[in-house]
Amino acid sequence: FQPKPLRGMKVMITAGPTFERIDAVRGITNQSSGKMGFSLARAARDAGAEVTLIAGPVSLPTPYGVKRIDVESANDMLNAVNGSISVQDVFIGVAAVADYHPLQQFEHKLKKDANILQVDLAPNPDILANVASLPRPPFCVGFAAESQNLLDFAEQKRRKKRLPLLAANLVQTAFNSDSNELILLDDKGRHPLPKSDKLSQARLLVQHIGKMMRAEPPT
Ligand code: C5P
Repeated sequence: FQPKPLRGMKVMITAGPTFERIDAVRGITNQSSGKMGFSLARAARDAGAEVTLIAGPVSLPTPYGVKRIDVESANDMLNAVNGSISVQDVFIGVAAVADYHPLQQFEHKLKKDANILQVDLAPNPDILANVASLPRPPFCVGFAAESQNLLDFAEQKRRKKRLPLLAANLVQTAFNSDSNELILLDDKGRHPLPKSDKLSQARLLVQHIGKMMRAEPPT
């Protein structure tokens, strides 16, 4: 056990949902409390890191000593990430980023009528995949919340986005819950964490990141 496994490192974390505006009051979003991402920010700070937390709309207090940037949409989140990604040592994408945004956004509240309303959706950028494909990427960690086939879907995601480490959890276990049961996936295999509160899970994940970053690169 290392008390400060990320000492002196810069860690950026995305957390919470994104909100993609349709009009002045409506939008589309994902279900996410932000608790796991905010717990990771605390755990990384306690592990000695300088933490930047980029948060979608959530109602959680900022952990002491953490730099927080609030954003609304996926595009805002990408811009905030790009603002200082080049100096980060670690990037952890925990945010439940909406996959699409409305092609057209209306400044004023749309009036309802009896007709079908059609909203065209355009795909959002994949923030984590963008970061992981930089010429000199930070150590990238992804999350995968799945409702079925957890390990297969999660490992596919890890490979597709070229991540050294991914934390997988079942939607049924993690959502609306203070506890979680993560399974960490890396090149060496699967590492299930014992079920516990989200802050304890976050501390174990941070230990794992520290261990992987200290490991000698293969020759
Ligand atoms: O593909 P999926 O959304 O399930 O991937 C989950 C991982 O990718 C999470 O780490 C999430 O934060 C990140 N992600 C992202 N930008 C997106 C979609 C997902 O950073 N547009």
